[in-house]
Amino acid sequence: MESPFKADVLKGKVALLTGGGSGIGFEISTQFGRHGAAVAIMGRRRQVLDDAVAALRSQGIQAIGIEGDVRKQEDAARVVATVFKHFGRLDILVNGAAGNFLVSPEDLSPNGFRTVLDIDSVGTYTMCHEALKYLKKGAPGKEESTGGLILNISATLHYTAAWYQIHVSAAKAAVDSLTRSLALEWGTDYDIRVNGIAPGPIEGTPGTRKLVPEEMKSKTREFMPLFKLGDKWDIAMAALYLASDAGKYVNGTTVIVDGGLWLSRPRH
Ligand code: HXC
Repeated sequence: MESPFKADVLKGKVALLTGGGSGIGFEISTQFGRHGAAVAIMGRRRQVLDDAVAALRSQGIQAIGIEGDVRKQEDAARVVATVFKHFGRLDILVNGAAGNFLVSPEDLSPNGFRTVLDIDSVGTYTMCHEALKYLKKGAPGKEESTGGLILNISATLHYTAAWYQIHVSAAKAAVDSLTRSLALEWGTDYDIRVNGIAPGPIEGTPGTRKLVPEEMKSKTREFMPLFKLGDKWDIAMAALYLASDAGKYVNGTTVIVDGGLWLSRPRH
């Protein structure tokens, strides 16, 4: 689908996306690139990175892939430094790396719970922490007077409660809290905007493949306000809005892009 944004809204910007090699993250990488940004992708799997970078470059997008695990502080520090070395600046950090599986609490070991919090919540914090010196107002490579942007990919699971998702719900609740705290503190001190996006079920993503079985998809549609799953494109457009000047006064919010699903109840 064609973008309603001008092709140069992110011109000159450099974006680093964790989990940017697949699913929603890859679509954000692509749309950021198509709108003028240079893109760095961080992920654990070399092959996924190589394929993603090749696909981006084939569209004329400047892209690099850097191996790393958001659970390791040294990886986070190395990756942001590599991005800066390669592109000379960093403007946007998208925290998209996430872990997920369906499991009931009685079958989820504390270590399994911790693993998902480590990836989603602590990983997001670690990336933000390591990227700060490049994102803040007046950082090396930035001639503008404004700081950068952090975008945290969240979920709507924890607004109510979600079956078999106790770990992810807790992890994303923490992510939303980080979004607000960092928006307050880093918005004030460093002119960095920090926002989130909470996608609903999105067609063709690892998340939906893993979490929403086919038969549930058709059942879900019956009580979805817009009667459909979302597209990765929908999330990428929200990301573009937040990353472009259109979103320059938006700070500390998590934009829900789920067609209104989290509000829905079966009729009666
Ligand atoms: C129960 C499980 C489990 C499962 C792992 N564990 N998978 N427990 N059911 N299916 C437990 C293990 O038993 C172990 O605890 C602990 O978790 C760590 O497992 P490891 O395999 O050592 O972890 P690791 O190799 O680091 O793998 C991390 C992972 C994996 C989260 C388990 O699935 C992963 O990396 N996924 C990333 C890709 C992904 O899922 N992306 C989609 C995100 S979608 P013990 O006690 O045995 O040591 C998304 C959408 C959210 O986030 C919102 C949807 C609406």
